[in-house]
Amino acid sequence: MNLLSPVTGVAGRLARPVGDLMTAARIVTDWRMPLLLAVSKGFITPVYRAAWLASATGTGVLAALAVRPCDLESLAERLGVPPESREDLQRLRAWLDMGVRLGEIDRREGAYRLRSIAARTFAHAGNDALAAALEEVLRFHVPVLLGAPRMAATGERFALADQDGLVIARSTRVVEPLVRAAIDRVLERDKPQRLLEIGCGSGSHVKYAAELNPRLSALAVDLQADVAETATKNMAEWGLADRVETRQGDLRTLDLEPQFDLVTLHNNIYYFPEHERTAALERARALLAPGGRLLLTTSCQGGSIGLDVLSLWFTYAEFGGPLPHEDELRAQLESAGFTGIEVHRPVPREQFRAFTAVNETA
Ligand SMILES: C[S@@+](CC[C@H](N)C(=O)[O-])C[C@H]1O[C@@H](n2cnc3c(N)ncnc32)[C@H](O)[C@@H]1O
Repeated sequence: MNLLSPVTGVAGRLARPVGDLMTAARIVTDWRMPLLLAVSKGFITPVYRAAWLASATGTGVLAALAVRPCDLESLAERLGVPPESREDLQRLRAWLDMGVRLGEIDRREGAYRLRSIAARTFAHAGNDALAAALEEVLRFHVPVLLGAPRMAATGERFALADQDGLVIARSTRVVEPLVRAAIDRVLERDKPQRLLEIGCGSGSHVKYAAELNPRLSALAVDLQADVAETATKNMAEWGLADRVETRQGDLRTLDLEPQFDLVTLHNNIYYFPEHERTAALERARALLAPGGRLLLTTSCQGGSIGLDVLSLWFTYAEFGGPLPHEDELRAQLESAGFTGIEVHRPVPREQFRAFTAVNETA
């Protein structure tokens, strides 16, 4: 037995708190601590907030909370979480409580409710395009920023399936006022018009044109089957099913008579590689009746940082290419046989352009 052990034990117990204090002091005065806090506040927490908000919007949780406060069980039912699985319910609660921790929602008397301005904004149905744009940034822009060097080294490319066509169809509506301004300038209102829309997304631009001209009829196609299907549902909901036919289709293989007064391509010329754009435009021209017009809207190079990242994504896509330069696209329209090419900017200094061109030949 060690006779000194009671003494060394007391000394050890006294030394430990002093040692702990010194360790704590060393940690908090370490120059990396404020840096870590700054990174957490400036970069990490905003990413967590954005991701939580995008998920809560995309799953309809915020929209449900905008109607009334909801308890865990009713949110679980909405999200299809099996009510009999206590473990899944607890996992859902952990995610909801993270929303509380981030300050986006509150939990009082067993019910979750909206709290932050951001959550209230994204919950509003009129801001759906904004919410989808946030989801697009997190799900598609972040991966290209993270993965580009690896992809450049390995030759890996994004496929169309790496996008979510339904999210993109919603997020692209952020530029709807610009597209509408272009349609306003071009659409004939006082005679019947036959419109072909290529890459119709949600179908909202066709709806706008059909409302401007009650004698307009349209065929709206989209390459992605689920997008075309949603556009079909939207047309039925908007009461336009008798005037607008929607279907899955690819501009490059559409087999139709040259019967259209107007062919539109909104926000999708970058879904074609640069070297294929002239051929795609030739296809569009071949579907126009003599004297028919093309309206092509697109953001061009040199816009916001978000557009630059979009352009980067398409630079890494196996099927597309970067946003166009105005001069390049004008030259491609000329090579495709169009005449009377005009370029309009709905908002001066914005990089969004509306190109109009005529198919003179039969
Ligand atoms: C960014 S979204 C724009 C949707 C809609 N035009 C808008 O402005 O809201 C581009 C759409 O074009 C479609 N698209 C791309 N290439 C196409 C092609 N070759 N033929 C038909 N649609 C195409 C895509 O499937 C996608 O839904």
